[in-house]
Amino acid sequence: MLLKSPIVVTGGAGFIGSNFVLQWLAEQQTNVTVLDNLTYAGNLENLTSVEKDKRYHFVLGDIVDGGSMRQLLDEQRPGAVVHFAAESHVDRSILGPAEFIRTNIEGTFQLLEAVRGYWSELPTPQQRAFRFLHVSTDEVYGSLTPTALAFTEETPYAPNSPYSASKAASDHLVRAYYHTYGLPVLTTNCSNNYGPHQFPEKLIPLVVLNALKGLPIPVYGDGQNVRDWLFVTDHCDGIRTVLERGVPGQTYNIGGRQEMSNLDLVQQICIVLDELKPTEKPYASLITFVKDRPGHDRRYAMNTSKIERELGWQPRETFAGGLRKTIQWYLDNPEWVEHVTSGSYREWIDLQYEPSSLTGAAKR
Ligand code: NAD
Ligand code: DAU
Repeated sequence: MLLKSPIVVTGGAGFIGSNFVLQWLAEQQTNVTVLDNLTYAGNLENLTSVEKDKRYHFVLGDIVDGGSMRQLLDEQRPGAVVHFAAESHVDRSILGPAEFIRTNIEGTFQLLEAVRGYWSELPTPQQRAFRFLHVSTDEVYGSLTPTALAFTEETPYAPNSPYSASKAASDHLVRAYYHTYGLPVLTTNCSNNYGPHQFPEKLIPLVVLNALKGLPIPVYGDGQNVRDWLFVTDHCDGIRTVLERGVPGQTYNIGGRQEMSNLDLVQQICIVLDELKPTEKPYASLITFVKDRPGHDRRYAMNTSKIERELGWQPRETFAGGLRKTIQWYLDNPEWVEHVTSGSYREWIDLQYEPSSLTGAAKR
């Protein structure tokens, strides 16, 4: 029923948001309005394949601008808002937290206010059917020891980076709008995503692109930090499941049950590349240990029993299959890579890694 209404997707030009929009338009019938202010991470090329689809509409705008958000909602009359827009990179939050506070906290607050105003004026049946889905992260739960049980929805929040603290704050605001105003909100907390369209400051695309250029592959610390990986379309599928069947006010963990150390992951990428794009030396010879990320969370792991049991969601992609598809996508899309790795990308890499990253320690 809900999935028959038009939706507004914030941050729909980014990595996960664009995958979500493409999946939505392929599998649903209704209109999608993408609201995005196209930061360095937002890229309309992610949406080129649907730009002529009459159900798709793009609006350039900033979630911090509450007045414009309200105007957009009044014009588009959505039955749901799916909120991806955020500053999403932990390392950037360490070097410059202000933008994370602005977008992730102030922006989510302004968006919630605009949504509350719009929602409160809807006729009762539409009010009941409306949903605000907030896309969040496993990082709000903090760090696990190697043998600790995986995070559940009951795990107390313990964010350790400016990024995760700002996401935690936004989760709390969303929760408060349910308890205080009755706004029908849903929150999803997901583990590390990988797949097409991921900006190459994040580990997997960074490793693939550095390897292809014969550059060092930077692994922080001892490489034994553990992440739980999920193919992006499985995350998008999980979000649609929660949108359709989730209970307002509830939170749902989403993850791949694919825990892996960073070093293992990087080695697997190198093995796939050796096969798909062989060179004289194995790509693993480029692996370079660099200075650790400050406050680097040791391990994340998600218990996803709730969404599996209550809503019937499960990931469909295997890790080996998803990784191969991802690497192949970067090999097949050199123009996309060329466009996103020019300009500001170079500046970021120069700021984050020693020029001799080629031998060297991460710069702080
Ligand atoms: P991304 O950085 O690739 O994309 C973020 C998008 O938001 C970009 O298109 C950007 O232009 C837009 N944006 C940023 N600030 C904005 C603003 N003020 N107004 C409007 N648009 C703005 O991020 P992603 O990896 O696609 O993550 C999307 C969401 O999912 C985020 O909320 C993130 O916290 C969450 N998440 C990400 C992962 C992951 O592994 N990438 C895992 C769990 C949760
Ligand atoms: O867990 C979900 C989170 O996953 C999301 O909320 C974030 O938006 C998303 O960016 C991601 O955060 P991470 O910090 O886990 O992702 P990143 O790709 O930056 O790093 C993954 C791991 O790899 C992490 O342990 C740090 C390490 N790493 C990263 C880079 C960029 C390296 O060892 N070397 C690197 O050069």
